[in-house]
Amino acid sequence: MKILFAALLISAPFVTSAAAPVDPIVPGKDYHSYADPSAFRVRHLELDLTASFEDQRLSGVADLTVTRISPDANKLVLDTRDLVIRQAWWVKSRSDLVPVRFTVGARDAMLGSPLSIDLPAEAKASELVIRISYQTRPEASGLQWVPAQLTADKTHPFLFTQSQAIHARSWIPLQDSPQVRMTFDATIRVPAGMRAVMGAESVTNPLELVPDGVFRFRMPQAIPSYLVALGVGKLEFRATGPRTGVYAESSIVEAAAKEFSDTEQMMEVSEKLFGAYRWGRYDLLILPPSFPFGGMENPRLSFITPTVIAGDKSLTSLIAHELAHSWSGNLVTNATWRDLWLNEGFTVYLQNRIMLAVYGERRAAMEEALDLQIVRRELETNPPSDQILAIDLRGRDPDDAFTQIPYIKGALFVSWLGSRFGVENVDRFLQEYFDHFQFQSIATEQFRAYLEAKLLPQKAGAVTQAELDEWMLAPGLPKYAVLPTSDAFDKVDGLRTDWLSGKLAAAQLPGKDWTTHEWVHFIDGLPKKVPANQLTEIDEAFALTNAGNSEIAFSWLRVAIANEYSPAWPRLENYLTTIGRRKLIKPLYEDLMKTPAGAERARAIYAKARANYHPIATTTLDATVHKASKR
Ligand code: BES
Ligand code: ZN
Repeated sequence: MKILFAALLISAPFVTSAAAPVDPIVPGKDYHSYADPSAFRVRHLELDLTASFEDQRLSGVADLTVTRISPDANKLVLDTRDLVIRQAWWVKSRSDLVPVRFTVGARDAMLGSPLSIDLPAEAKASELVIRISYQTRPEASGLQWVPAQLTADKTHPFLFTQSQAIHARSWIPLQDSPQVRMTFDATIRVPAGMRAVMGAESVTNPLELVPDGVFRFRMPQAIPSYLVALGVGKLEFRATGPRTGVYAESSIVEAAAKEFSDTEQMMEVSEKLFGAYRWGRYDLLILPPSFPFGGMENPRLSFITPTVIAGDKSLTSLIAHELAHSWSGNLVTNATWRDLWLNEGFTVYLQNRIMLAVYGERRAAMEEALDLQIVRRELETNPPSDQILAIDLRGRDPDDAFTQIPYIKGALFVSWLGSRFGVENVDRFLQEYFDHFQFQSIATEQFRAYLEAKLLPQKAGAVTQAELDEWMLAPGLPKYAVLPTSDAFDKVDGLRTDWLSGKLAAAQLPGKDWTTHEWVHFIDGLPKKVPANQLTEIDEAFALTNAGNSEIAFSWLRVAIANEYSPAWPRLENYLTTIGRRKLIKPLYEDLMKTPAGAERARAIYAKARANYHPIATTTLDATVHKASKR
């Protein structure tokens, strides 16, 4: 079945300012790339890069195999950001390199600079190879050069990439759009004793250290640029199953392998529900704590924050999430960043299905209930136009615009379909959807057309067009959304009320038996102001200020800030200077900014911490901390 969508024009809903008329969004058009995939398409990439930690540079060549889509196209436009382009050639044959003229356009703060390459008149073939010699700059937004003292072992530095959403262009010149897929080969040269890993198949033996520091990789499945990934560190490997394992620095590799020992089982469950795993192996790379995200679903090798190594597997939903992207996202990809909800919303749904199968009903219900609280808060604090699943991101940096709305509202939409059509039918529909669109990138409108063609006829009248419109185009959550509940949380709610009213002493709470989820729910449900003596009482009973679990500590520190609970200040500073995961630090800075004394504390801590953060985090946090300093 072929679905036509390009001709569909929809207007941006809920435009608030009457002054500026907004052009209708063209579904499937990528507003975040200079490339024109209707002129040329990159099909294959061959990289040969040397990593210099001294200079904080990647340097080498990229060979791009491009297909000419439009017969008279003679200018190839690529995306770059802060790259130093040295030279470019048309590779006429292996031994015949023809220099080509190129220009690097003006730098746009969000998009970077277009690299326009004029192809010689002679280069008429429908398939061409263009070679670009280049190097990155130390400030490349998609790279973090982590000094040894900020790694787990503190003996060697660490380099990692983060290409999503539009940072691949800061380390490779390419068509940086999720609708262009390519295969790749790579040779990565690193200092002797260190190991390079990529989201790809290892050609060099992955278990032996390569004495000359030259690592080779091959990616036989075509992937979008945002999934191209590289890590370099003093890494070890531990298997967790026949197809799964972890790469980490030596001091944390055992703990990581233990924490994530359920990964193989998660894979088995996912395959049963959603079809074959198409990518060979599934390994994890544990990054330094400055990694700005929880996880990143790089194919074959998810990148993972060390802040989820809690010691009790309580935060492994992150692994279920990144693994689930092997279907929703990596196999079927969003065509543009507006369509991110197709990636992330479906992934949260899959994640919940995996968690239910591996850990059971009680935990799965608690996790879904926690997510509901999160999305409720996001819906309260975001304007209506940002509450829509297919968000209008034109003129906005996708990094700053993403909230939990496409994630959790997206998952609630799929769960709601389950309530109307039956969960098993929806799972089967998703499996067929992944098969149908595998290795393609699709827009919201294509998904809807497929849904209407394949799922809706299974039970006529089960959902209406008006309901689908409301889910996809309206802000907020529909009244008829089916919301998760948790009995365990209901109990916690009762105990919290009793403690707050003085009926129960803190020591009488069954906190020792609570899971991470129950603690987070308990703390998040506290009123804005809690009397100082009660904060002291509960902290003394359960050592919350010193909680090692990154999520419990996060929730508690928010309470501490709101109540100016000073015993937590050293922990707050320690937390903010050692963790760079944006989701865990940005709200703490925002909370601090609400009072003059807090703003002062935020600025003082930020001055110390900023150098340790990733460029993706500082871009956001500079705005947060700076804004309030002007008030
Ligand atoms: N793909 C995302 C991370 C991402 C999203 C990077 C958008 C850049 C732009 C990843 O799969 C993710 O969603 N991670 C979450 C964890 C998840 C359990 C919600 C995170 O990092 O917190
Ligand atoms: Zn995700």
